[in-house]
Amino acid sequence: MADVKIIEDGAAIALDMGGAVSRYHAVWLRDNAWDEQTRAAGNGQRLITLSDIPEDIAIQHASVEGDRLKVTFAPNEEQIDYDLNWIVAHCYDLPQLSEKGWVGDEILVWDSAWQGQVPVADFSQVTQDKEALATWLDGIVQFGFGKLTGGPVEEGALFQVADLFGYVRETNYGRHFEVRTEVHPSNLAFTGLGLQAHTDNPYRDPVPTVQILYCLENSAEGGENMVVDGFACAQRLQREDPRGFHLLSSYCARFEFAGEDGVCLRSRRPMIELAPDGALVGVRFNNRSAAAITDVPYGDMAAYYAAYRRLGKIIDDPEMEITFKLEPGECFVVDNTRVLHARKGYSGSGSRWLQGCYADMDGLRSTHAALVQEIIRAAE
Ligand code: FE2
Repeated sequence: MADVKIIEDGAAIALDMGGAVSRYHAVWLRDNAWDEQTRAAGNGQRLITLSDIPEDIAIQHASVEGDRLKVTFAPNEEQIDYDLNWIVAHCYDLPQLSEKGWVGDEILVWDSAWQGQVPVADFSQVTQDKEALATWLDGIVQFGFGKLTGGPVEEGALFQVADLFGYVRETNYGRHFEVRTEVHPSNLAFTGLGLQAHTDNPYRDPVPTVQILYCLENSAEGGENMVVDGFACAQRLQREDPRGFHLLSSYCARFEFAGEDGVCLRSRRPMIELAPDGALVGVRFNNRSAAAITDVPYGDMAAYYAAYRRLGKIIDDPEMEITFKLEPGECFVVDNTRVLHARKGYSGSGSRWLQGCYADMDGLRSTHAALVQEIIRAAE
């Protein structure tokens, strides 16, 4: 017979499943609600960000009725009803077993002050001139991001961009995907909603390491793109909150996408990934596809969430972002292991049509390095 008690002045509950007692924090429970306001009915993706949850969230009332856990949260008196089996299956109150964050010289960590200095090249130049291509790729290796202007305004032009440095990585979304408003979206990326800065597909392992977004139409109001350097955000978190950095780099988060038939992608990786020697090697951040975090022990979960919230606030800080609007025939290439991208909301008037595809950063680095060698050899 299950029983539940409010503990720690409402900060958590203790759920007794007939002798086995597990504790759950208010913020964890609220973040993992499955009601229609929190999760999209069609695809199960989370509709809220952590900033939609009050920092002083607490549990006002909790009861078990059959196989349901019913919780009322202060301060907004929200009532949320949980499947008790799901809660028990996602228990994190388990026994606890017991100079990082550097980047290599080839990496240039940036913020909004670098707005005018991002790598931009002309499409026809990089397709005809190897030195121009090498310079542009060098910029992408450094910045994790680059823009191309003056390309053809035709469907599939993004494949010509991928051909410049590598190969398209095909996924369940296809060889490429269309980014425009759809009536019944399988993914929130295909609606006119603004999207919080994120890395794509953290539920894959490995993630697609390059994304290309190519603009074919953009007359809609809004819809600007933003990019944020995840390495800059991680290093800022480390400076401002070393313990938060430690938590987000020491414990795995979980990501999941099962928004279409026959697809059930899951991964278990840290939000801030360090190599064993402490090098910063990756950032995964995506509120829509974050699954229940169950690899953080109870004793660290509240601090983990505080660090997660703090990293989100850093990512949302306009001082960290570079903003631009793509014109038809323009595209951007982003290192998806490092740089987050976002889009402001756009209205139904006018049209916005982008085509996107994935490729790989190792191929880009390889093409870059080979070109540099070729240019050096030619000069000798
Ligand atoms: Fe995206």
